[in-house]
Amino acid sequence: MAMTLNKCLFNVLFFFLAFAMFLPALNAEDGPQMDKYWKVRAQNAFKEAQQAYNPNPEKESKSVSQSISRGYWKFDHNTTLRRTLMKRYEGPCMATNPIDQCWRCDSNWGKYRKKLADCAIGFGKNAIGGKNGRFYIVNDTSDDVLNPKPGTLRHAVIQPKPLWITFARSMIITLKEELLVNCNKTIDGRGSNVHIAYGAGITLQYVQNIIIHNIHIHDILPRAGGMIRDSTEHVGLRTRSDGDGISLFGASNVWIDHVSMYRCGDGLIDAIMGSTAVTISNSHFTNHNEVMLFGANEKHEQDKFMQITVAFNHFGKGLVQRMPRCRYGFVHVVNNDYTHWLMYAIGGSSNPTIISQGNRFIAPPNLSAKEVTKREHASESEWKNWTWRSEGDLMMNGAFFVQSGNPNYDLKMKEALVAAKPGHMVTSITRFAGTLRCKKGFEC
Ligand SMILES: *[C@@H]1O[C@H](CO)[C@@H](O)[C@H](O)[C@H]1NC(C)=O
Ligand SMILES: *[C@@H]1O[C@H](CO)[C@@H](O)[C@H](O)[C@H]1NC(C)=O
Ligand SMILES: *[C@@H]1O[C@H](CO)[C@@H](O)[C@H](O)[C@H]1NC(C)=O
Ligand SMILES: *[C@@H]1O[C@H](CO)[C@@H](O)[C@H](O)[C@H]1NC(C)=O
Ligand SMILES: *[C@@H]1O[C@H](CO)[C@@H](O)[C@H](O)[C@H]1NC(C)=O
Repeated sequence: MAMTLNKCLFNVLFFFLAFAMFLPALNAEDGPQMDKYWKVRAQNAFKEAQQAYNPNPEKESKSVSQSISRGYWKFDHNTTLRRTLMKRYEGPCMATNPIDQCWRCDSNWGKYRKKLADCAIGFGKNAIGGKNGRFYIVNDTSDDVLNPKPGTLRHAVIQPKPLWITFARSMIITLKEELLVNCNKTIDGRGSNVHIAYGAGITLQYVQNIIIHNIHIHDILPRAGGMIRDSTEHVGLRTRSDGDGISLFGASNVWIDHVSMYRCGDGLIDAIMGSTAVTISNSHFTNHNEVMLFGANEKHEQDKFMQITVAFNHFGKGLVQRMPRCRYGFVHVVNNDYTHWLMYAIGGSSNPTIISQGNRFIAPPNLSAKEVTKREHASESEWKNWTWRSEGDLMMNGAFFVQSGNPNYDLKMKEALVAAKPGHMVTSITRFAGTLRCKKGFEC
């Protein structure tokens, strides 16, 4: 085995030997079955997360305010309307936020796919995925969890090297067990209609630097677990998977953009166990109860390093709660459109910092569910110190956000956040949320 160790693993082992003694012990309740290989990866992920965490971020350079010059104001800017009153957009390419403006309206996007790696904003902006690697074209929808066939998605994601993964055609991939993705990967569904559905979901466990773009993830089911290959060198025993759409477990530098997600067994996107440096953007979420969980347990104090940006998403029909639900950490919720929720939109416990800026919140008819926010497991005397701020949010249909904590929270941090547009522009900012139908050779 030693002869074939790749650099990543070598670094991991070196690090493990050098520092393992100083790091927190991982106990059984902290996660799925961990053999020695996973323990090493856990320690490395902890170190990577510390590096990805940014206590002192630079001023955000790509901000929504720069977008005005590029036609941003041209349409739909009176957005106090319900989205259902909007027609399907059929005009020329229109990119309505700085991420999309970075690549979408270039008819050569298919030739320069890796340009996308420079387009992230927010806490996950350093995710470059497989930018420094080769392309890998998935051409086979089958799934063998022990010996994945070349051409399958599982074969692509377990490779040790960086890879930019694309799809030969439109396809539905039904995963037999959770898809354990290795470091430095982009899963890029542009140009095809790719669904990961009716089986297990995607797991980003103790990995860094992942981009997931333009795929549908839905009807994800719990799976029994068993022996699963998680890299070219290692097969390990996994316990049952809960049916999360995308599960981040000690993952850092992750960017999820233009995905459409619905009906998963557990969360749509969960980020737990010290995951940090994450951006979730331009996505469309529907028909699901517990949408996003950031931090699973008050015992997981490593989640204090969690920094997550939730930007330009549409939280749509049939959602119930947790958009997101946070423990510890710093969560920036900016320019999202919340058009439906049944219980509440944003919640948490264990003193998370939640900065909500320029979102639109349309409350449901239920008089008991007008409050955007929900605090759990804390009396008012305790939560009144939690920093939960609402700035420039558009409140409709009786929605209200109960603020708490210091209005001048961290000024340096405030400067560094993705700059928000006013809430009334959110319909246009999020107009193209979810997967896009891009055709090679045309603006997307
Ligand atoms: C991922 O990329 C980073 C930066 O290029 C590199 O340091 C690291 O070793 C890579 N990981 C793997 C598994 O190749
Ligand atoms: C925007 O739409 C609202 C609701 O339909 C309407 O009352 C308002 O007059 C419109 N404003 C403009 C500037 O068109
Ligand atoms: C599918 O991709 C694999 C791996 O790149 C390749 O070996 C195989 O020939 C491809 N099959 C087809 C039918 O293109
Ligand atoms: C109304 O909202 C409350 C508070 O979230 C919830 O407990 C209740 O089930 C909702 N009622 C209906 C009919 O949805
Ligand atoms: C809440 O904040 C105030 C002012 O910053 C501080 O004096 C007080 O000790 C804090 N209370 C708790 C319970 O942390």
